[in-house]
Order: sequence, then structure tokens, then C-alpha cells
Amino acid sequence: MHTLSSLLGVALLAGAASAQVAVWGQCGGIGYSGSTSCASGTTCVKVNDYYSQCQPGSSATTLKTSTTTNTSTSTFTTSPSPSSSAGLNVLAEKSGRYFGSATDNPELTDTAYTAILGDKNEFGIITPGNSMKWDATEPSRGTFTFTGGQQIVDFANANGQAIRGHNLVWHSQLPAWVTSGNFDKATLTSIMQNHITTLVTHWKGQLAQWDVVNEAFNDDGTFRQNVFYTTIGEDYIQIAFETARAADPDVKLCINDYNIEGSGAKATALYNLVSKLKAANAPIDCIGIQGHLIVGEVPSTLQANWAQFASLGVDVAITELDIRMTLPETDALLQQQAKDYATVVAACMNVSRCIGITIWDYTDKYSWVPQTFSGQGDACPWDSNLQKKPAYASIASALSA
Ligand code: G3I
Repeated sequence: MHTLSSLLGVALLAGAASAQVAVWGQCGGIGYSGSTSCASGTTCVKVNDYYSQCQPGSSATTLKTSTTTNTSTSTFTTSPSPSSSAGLNVLAEKSGRYFGSATDNPELTDTAYTAILGDKNEFGIITPGNSMKWDATEPSRGTFTFTGGQQIVDFANANGQAIRGHNLVWHSQLPAWVTSGNFDKATLTSIMQNHITTLVTHWKGQLAQWDVVNEAFNDDGTFRQNVFYTTIGEDYIQIAFETARAADPDVKLCINDYNIEGSGAKATALYNLVSKLKAANAPIDCIGIQGHLIVGEVPSTLQANWAQFASLGVDVAITELDIRMTLPETDALLQQQAKDYATVVAACMNVSRCIGITIWDYTDKYSWVPQTFSGQGDACPWDSNLQKKPAYASIASALSA
């Protein structure tokens, strides 16, 4: 199992000698010239001719036993796996991918919930839904708080799970001191760089991926007029990636957005941006495709669009998948939802550089959807009583195909 101490060991090793590749990092493939030596507890697994990845050892098929981890910020007790079925992450790992879930700090007191969230057979990677965002980590200038994010890092470490960092630069959940500070270009650039450097350094060697820039585009493909764009210009994106890379040479760096699942103006704009970033040798490793979809309205161009993204020489990851419906739930809607989840998973399975799928929390009990879209919900594969819905079986089957 991947423990906190082994992950910290990776962090220390990464600092001392960068020869060892951290978990989920690239360790081989045509055109790859970096280290092929994986950190302790991980193995270099060939995903395809162009990509091999350091993946956790064979623990995927082992049922977890009870463990307790004490840290400076929190204590977690994990239980044996509640299910004897293979689990979604176990199935995803068979093709060199992962299956993960987002979570949020208030939910971690719900022990029935955490028993499933902490089951590595279901979820190999965890994303903090809020607690690594700017408002949570740097609420006032130069004052950093890592407590909430650390609580989720500790939880994942205690369960041998990897972590996606979310996110470094975003227009939302951005404190007023940033948006209304009237900073000039040089000052805002240095504020952004300081924020990125501080967070990435704090969790250096401990995260598999970071969403460096989130939601940079409007739906029509023009750049979102956030404070970074209007003050620094388009260059804020490249500067953000370069700053993150300087702070952690191994973590995968992603640009993340929604409404780019299928082809369209926004997907084209993102493709063009990443193409430009790659041409400028910017350190971008992955395109994060959020995947907040609607039952019965899944685009038909998923696979073609993701393959086109991947042709730029980046990985693609489905980062926030959920498929909402207009309530009340019916059997027909549940069946359609199951079909739609399978469509998304199959598209990922058919794109060799689609490295994995994260759902934006696994249960309707804690989904963000009802608070945002009135009258809609039930978007997750587990219902609000933590019971598996038809979508669970369809995801499992698509991951096994
Ligand atoms: O922090 C305050 C807390 O102090 C206050 O007591 C409480 C009262 O409602 O609100 C808390 O803030 C909430 C925050 O989540 C933390 O819980 C906000 O009201 C609420 O709007 C916020 O929602 C989050 C949303 O991002 C904000 O944009 C959702 O939980 C989170 O799931 C969602 O995640 C985003 C991704 O980051 C980016 N992609 C879209 C996705 C869904 O919107």
C-alpha cells in the first residue's frame, strides 16, 4: 500500500535526486528521454508504445485491511472494503488507467461515506472539491492555509490513493483582495507566481496532477476576461505552467475546462491554445475535461475530440464527470444515465492517452448539482443512500470491455 511515509519518501527523494519518477509520472515510451526508474512502491507499466507510467504496485487486487493514520491535522480510520466486487479502480487499472472521485472536507465526518470513498478498489485517486482553491488557501495576501487540503491528502495517503490538485488559477472562488486589488501587471504576475509556487512546493512529490489553469475560456471560444487575462494578458497561462513546473518537476500539469467534451468552438479554442503552448515548449502535460453532462445529451463527438486533443502530445483526463437529470428520477432516466456513463467511459477507453476518469463525488448525497441547477440532480453513480445505481454496473462493464 502507498502510505503517507512512502509518499513523503518520494517527496524527499524527488528533492535529493530527480532520477526517480513519482507515482503516475511517465517512465517510458517512444520519444521519452526522462528517467525510467519508478519511485519505491510503484512499477513502470506500459500503457501504449508512446507512454509508460509509474503505477502503484499490485495492491489493486488486494482487499484493504483496517489501518489508522495519525497526522498533525486529522485522524482517519479506514474499514475493510465493503464490497467483494472488483471495484471501478481495479477495473480501470487493468488498462493502465485510474478511476477516482472528488470529495469535500465536511463529508469526511460521514463514516459510511468515507468507507466507500477510501476504498482504493473503487477510487485510486481523490480530488479535493474546494479546499485547495485560492479562497481556501490564500484568503489574504501572503497568508497561506493548507489545513483543509492537507486533511484530504492525509485521507488519500491513509488509503493508498493518489491525489489530483484542484486548482491553482481560476476566476471563481478567488478572494476579493485578488479580483479588486487593482494590481498592475508586474504585481499581479508576482502574486500569481507566489500562489502557485507556495502551493505546488507545499505538496511537492505528493500529488499526481495539478489543474494549473481552470476554465480559461468562454463558451464561444474567446478567452474569459478574468483578472489574470485582463491584467497580464494571455501570457498568464504559460507563466502559470512554467511556475508550477519550476516548483515540482514531476507532477502532471493540466489545463481544465467544461463544455469541451465534444467538438465545438470552445474545444477548438482549447486545442489551439495547447498547440501554441506546446510549440512554445510550455510544460503542459494534460488536458482536463470536466464532464458535467446531462442525461440524454451526451455529445456524439467525445472520442474524436479527445483523440484530437491527445494528438497534441498531451494526456487527457476526465476530471469532474457527473451526468445530471431533471427530477424526479425515473427508471427510464436511470437507464439512460447508465448508458450515458458507459458512453463516456468507452470514449476514454478508446483513446490511448486518456489516462483516467474522476467523478465529481461518487454519491448524490454530496453532489454540487442541486444547489446550482434547480430541479436537477441525481447525477452520480451512487444514490443518496450510498447504494449503487444502474450507472455503476454500466461503468464497470465499459471499463472491462
Ligand atoms: O466556504 C463557504 C462557507 O464559509 C459557507 O458557510 C458556506 C455556506 O453555503 O458556503 C461555503 O462556500 C461554498 C463552497 O462551495 C465551499 O463549500 C459555496 O457557497 C459553494 O458555492 C461552493 O460550491 C463549489 C463550487 O465549485 C463553486 O464554484 C462546489 O462545492 C464545488 O463542487 C464546485 O466545483 C467546481 C469545480 O471546482 C470546477 N468545475 C465546476 C465544478 C462544479 O461547479
